[in-house]
Amino acid sequence: MNTRVIGAVIDHIVLRPPKRRDGADLHDLIARCPPLDLNSRYAYLLLCEHHGATCIVAEAGGELVGAVTAYIRPAIEPEEVSTLFIWQVAVAPHAQGQRLASRMLDQLTARCAVTHRFHKIETTISPSNIGSQKLFDSYAKRFNIGITAQPYFAASDFGDGKHEEEWLYQLG
Ligand SMILES: CC(C)(COP(=O)(O)OP(=O)(O)OC[C@H]1O[C@@H](n2cnc3c(N)ncnc32)[C@H](O)[C@@H]1OP(=O)(O)O)[C@@H](O)C(=O)NCCC(=O)NCCS
Repeated sequence: MNTRVIGAVIDHIVLRPPKRRDGADLHDLIARCPPLDLNSRYAYLLLCEHHGATCIVAEAGGELVGAVTAYIRPAIEPEEVSTLFIWQVAVAPHAQGQRLASRMLDQLTARCAVTHRFHKIETTISPSNIGSQKLFDSYAKRFNIGITAQPYFAASDFGDGKHEEEWLYQLG
């Protein structure tokens, strides 16, 4: 458990792997964190049930105030090193700007380095999401690891013409 007093907003924050009972709250948290894509309640339930060991949630006063969802990406090439793919990072609006996302990333990757022995982190970020780019730049600086970015999903890959392109960021 981490104790931090920041104004009256957040007192005790518990960082832990999500459980099945967190699925609905995780869905509702993501709904409050644009521009993240909101997936179905079922998708978040599956993440908690099947991938809880590679995800983390932050709880304060019985409320989910943050989450990082991730999974070990299936290998695309036969000899490929194990990759932790980070899907969504969300911090409730009232808890943003207090390093919660960084703390979740640090704790999740430390845990998964032991449990899953991954060698690389990947995530995708839209060019307009400066907050997310800064978050991962900051992580790379903190751990003194390289970070590269290249186009990955084109807007046309999403089919409806409404979704921004996504770039692939690789760390480590
Ligand atoms: C992006 C988000 C997760 C950041 O959470 P947070 O707890 O406020 O982030 P942190 O306080 O840990 O900040 C980490 C670094 O990113 C920077 N940063 C975070 N949000 C930023 C923003 N909107 N603009 C510029 N820099 C930002 C911080 O200044 C900090 O940089 P530093 O380490 O060099 O000082 C949060 O704003 C959020 O949930 N946004 C909506 C959803 C989203 O876009 N998620 C990311 C896509 S997966």
